[in-house]
Amino acid sequence: MKPSKRFALIAGARPNFMKIAPIMKAMQRYPEFEVCLIHTGQHYDKNLSDIFFQELGIRRPDVALGVGSGSHAKQTAEVMVAVERLLVEAQEQSQPFTALIVVGDVNSTMAAALAASKLHIPVVHVEAGLRSRDRTMPEEINRLVTDSISDLLLCSEPAGVENLISEGHPAANVHLVGNVMIDTLLNEVARAKQQNTLALYDLIPKQYAVVTLHRPGNVDHPQTLKAILEVLAKTSERLPIVFPVHPRTRSRIDQFGLQGILDKASGCRAVEPLGYLDCLCLTSQAKVVVTDSGGLQEESTALGVPCLTLRPNTERPITCSEGTGTLIGSSAELLDRKLQEVLCGTYKAGKCPELWDGKAAIRITDLLAGLFR
Ligand code: UD1
Repeated sequence: MKPSKRFALIAGARPNFMKIAPIMKAMQRYPEFEVCLIHTGQHYDKNLSDIFFQELGIRRPDVALGVGSGSHAKQTAEVMVAVERLLVEAQEQSQPFTALIVVGDVNSTMAAALAASKLHIPVVHVEAGLRSRDRTMPEEINRLVTDSISDLLLCSEPAGVENLISEGHPAANVHLVGNVMIDTLLNEVARAKQQNTLALYDLIPKQYAVVTLHRPGNVDHPQTLKAILEVLAKTSERLPIVFPVHPRTRSRIDQFGLQGILDKASGCRAVEPLGYLDCLCLTSQAKVVVTDSGGLQEESTALGVPCLTLRPNTERPITCSEGTGTLIGSSAELLDRKLQEVLCGTYKAGKCPELWDGKAAIRITDLLAGLFR
């Protein structure tokens, strides 16, 4: 059958790549679907982008927009201009897109959704409805804007559905489909555990912590970042830490002259950002994850590994209410107390949320097939 439905699928930054992989695969089940994969180039480093395509078997993007880094306005505007051009060209060549699919909450997500919406191309948002209610987070603005102009809102947890309904979205446009990021995790975890990552960093299963930090709220202020690094250094005296350092965090550590804190912490290994399989190899066998990442909160819950979330709020409340997550905010005292619980085995056990079952992308594509018949 000749494809008759053309979908533009947008990927921009690291957390998008593990979400698009299962969607692309599930779309192949429908011969009438054609997918145009568009990489905005928001993340361009090998370790933040290419390695995910290789490891997850995602084909080369059909279009690479090469937008790169910049201020929020510049990055957003450049993605909008480039996506608009692409969508208009497709219309002029009589190959219009049936819909545009965006995932997550990065600048590329919002920018592409805006461009499509103004051309009256239906927008499908995967991971819709999440709200931290903290408008100082750039992602919260991206989530609010993207959802407000999306035509089909696909949620990973019940809170997403509740938020969207209370914001006035018609129930017919909102669907609980589950978590596509966990589709990828369940597909890859056995393979990830075969990696030799633990040996590489001299780690023993269940006897180390994985730490990641990249939120502007944690890393962009010298005092906040210094306090977090000091707590980590102290923690590493009790439990070895492996700390893959995001480029934003690396540049802030250098800019604020904080490298000395890490140098003195002999139990803390600061390493380059990791690929998907190395990261999953480490997190799946960790004693505890300490993070401000949205994705790692969810992955820890799916893996049943305690997650101490270095944020005052989360847009993914199910990771705390049902899963293994606890919000720590910036309290060194609470972090210390919860770590103690983890180490002496009294920390809560979580459960994996409903529909985080490896089949979210199948549900999404079945919905698309029904709606865009
Ligand atoms: C972005 C997303 C965030 C997501 C995170 C995962 C937004 C607003 N933020 O944040 O939601 O959790 O990705 O990593 O979209 N840089 C590189 N190499 C790259 C990309 C960036 O060195 O390949 C450096 C640049 O100096 C850049 C900085 O990292 O200015 C920040 O990158 P940016 O994409 O603006 O935001 P992230 O902090 O990565």
